[in-house]
Amino acid sequence: SGAGSTGDGDAAADNKFGLVEAGTLTVCSDVPYPPFEFEDTSSESGYSGFDIDLLTAIAKELDLKISVQDVGFDALQSGTTLAAGTCDVGASAMTITDERKANIDFADPYYDSLQSLLVRADSGIKSIDDLAGKNVGVQQGTTGEAYAGENATGAELVSYPSDGELWPAMQAGQIDAILQDQPVNLEHEKADSAYKIVETYNTDESYGFAFAKGERTELLEAVNAALKDLRDSGEYQKIYDKYFTA
Ligand code: ARG
Repeated sequence: SGAGSTGDGDAAADNKFGLVEAGTLTVCSDVPYPPFEFEDTSSESGYSGFDIDLLTAIAKELDLKISVQDVGFDALQSGTTLAAGTCDVGASAMTITDERKANIDFADPYYDSLQSLLVRADSGIKSIDDLAGKNVGVQQGTTGEAYAGENATGAELVSYPSDGELWPAMQAGQIDAILQDQPVNLEHEKADSAYKIVETYNTDESYGFAFAKGERTELLEAVNAALKDLRDSGEYQKIYDKYFTA
């Protein structure tokens, strides 16, 4: 029987990618991280965003549905969550890095990103050099945390487990700046004009969908083929434009 069939077929034989749940691509993501992943009751999976919509389209190409599990980013980027086998793929605006490749297999890059510095518009902070003695909020385990650690000389780094805590901490005045991926800071800037991005840093980052190291080659290759199809058909561009073009 074909992929996606239900009924009384042999579920194990049907489950050709060895999925956590046959017929479903189980996705681990750290939510919220707008515009890449956020809760959306109007969506079938309960989540939307560039990552989620793109992976939903990829799953459709593979005749699968998606189911999203909200997990912590730090354990996801270290490979621990994926190795535990609770989901088939990680989709979390995760930058492909050499360090992560030691524990994770990445599909082909699907989005290029920058780092950025968000501050209160009236703070007088104009660049990373103005951060000495200030509290700079970052998300634990991220490339933004690493960038701030290397470049925000004299600043006090405050690490939060999720953007769902980092951004409220900024709005509550507990931190003076957020250093993280530019599209996410841009989303915050758009949501609240009291904040603005004062610098961006070209760190040459590309995001990739993530798999347990060495264990999901067949699925990874199918995701790459589907991603290529979506780029060729213009569907990738449609999803991109929905989130990144005015
Ligand atoms: N791109 C950055 C990284 O890979 C941040 C990703 C954070 N993602 C998230 N869903 N919270 O480290």
